[in-house]
Amino acid sequence: MENFNYYAPTRVVFGKGTELRTGELVRECGCRKVLVHYGSGSVKKSGLLDRICEALENAGVEYVSLGGVVPNPRLSLVYEGIALCKKESVDFILAVGGGSVIDSAKAIGYGVANEGDVWDFYARKRKAEGCLPLGVVLTIAAAGSEMSDSSVITNEEGWIKRGYSSNYVRPKFAVMNPELTMTLPAYQTESGCVDIMMHTMERYLNQADNMELTDGFSEHLIRTVMRNAKILLEHPRDYDARAEVMWAGSLSHNGLTGCGTDGGDWASHQLEHELGGMYDVAHGAGLAAVWGSWARYVMDARPERFARFAVRVMGVEETKDPLETAEKGIEAMEEFYRSIEMPTNLKELGIEPTEEEIRELARKCSFDGGRTIGCVKKLDQEDIYQIYMQAR
Ligand code: NZQ
Ligand code: ZN
Repeated sequence: MENFNYYAPTRVVFGKGTELRTGELVRECGCRKVLVHYGSGSVKKSGLLDRICEALENAGVEYVSLGGVVPNPRLSLVYEGIALCKKESVDFILAVGGGSVIDSAKAIGYGVANEGDVWDFYARKRKAEGCLPLGVVLTIAAAGSEMSDSSVITNEEGWIKRGYSSNYVRPKFAVMNPELTMTLPAYQTESGCVDIMMHTMERYLNQADNMELTDGFSEHLIRTVMRNAKILLEHPRDYDARAEVMWAGSLSHNGLTGCGTDGGDWASHQLEHELGGMYDVAHGAGLAAVWGSWARYVMDARPERFARFAVRVMGVEETKDPLETAEKGIEAMEEFYRSIEMPTNLKELGIEPTEEEIRELARKCSFDGGRTIGCVKKLDQEDIYQIYMQAR
């Protein structure tokens, strides 16, 4: 087992009706004025935003609000949020929504607490030294941003999507009522399930060994999400399935399934982020579209690990040749993706990049050839190009 540092300070308030406690939770954080940040309309339509504002008023908490976050959240709205927070002397941000809203809130929080251009952090020019405190009311189980240390923002200038991580942005609390996710379109529910699975798969398919407990958690978490993703396709209002998926979403990305590993691979995420930046695809669906091509490209570097995944997660029968078992596991996962109406290649994702565009994706993903991605195999610009090509 590798050394690790597990830090999950977010208070989780989980279950039916919990959003009504938002006011008291914010007040307990000792803030004076809140920015209520939200997306493109679902929280207005469902009436959630009104309930949250009422809960704040009942708790005597002052607030201003800023909506309009879109999936693959934009830097321009982050700048708007920073200016608003400064003008209104906001000292706490409440994100009401999914990963995009939470990430936008985190970026605004960085921008208020640090001088200079907030994009510098995402462009890896310098490190943040703080962030405004944040709270979350979660409306989609997917990104795990409600407990994670990361945020991902898209800069419209060049359509570059970049992540930045620090413990400053771990939310103070996360309100999670699974009922709030029942209004999601099926595509978003299933895309979220893929993202949740992938946050553990990225950590599981790595270069480390001897993590019995972490491996056990991880295998069970992925199987649990797979089972419930299928239930939700047929029964979107099944509370227990919603609850299992929502809790898995937080545990999959709060560091738990990485304890004792080498940190994980994360190449599939880097490959997807370029697709999100250039083609504005749903994050989980984008992951499903590139995962098989990535897995086949790297599996010979860790055949036993991929074979274990095939047997313990996908229920494949073990053969003498680990590579053969590994391939069967990848096929089984692709079959699962299809069964929940998720893509297994770029065409099914709804995009058909030209070869030139694939070169551009590979150039951006490798930072102009300046970095490699992944740890199962370190992938350079040419490897990245090959994987995108195979994903077509
Ligand atoms: O904007 P609204 O109208 O709310 O619509 C959203 C959006 O269109 C809708 N939605 C959310 N909750 C709903 C709902 N519709 C009906 N009923 C509800 N209850 O769903 C759509 C997707 O929302 P979004 O927030 O974009 O989804 P998700 O949580 O999947 O977040 C994706 C973003 O998170 C980033 C991704 O890259 C992507 O930008 N990630 C963030 C991570 C992190 N911070 O730790 C890790 C992840 O790997 C990921 O990269
Ligand atoms: Zn993800």
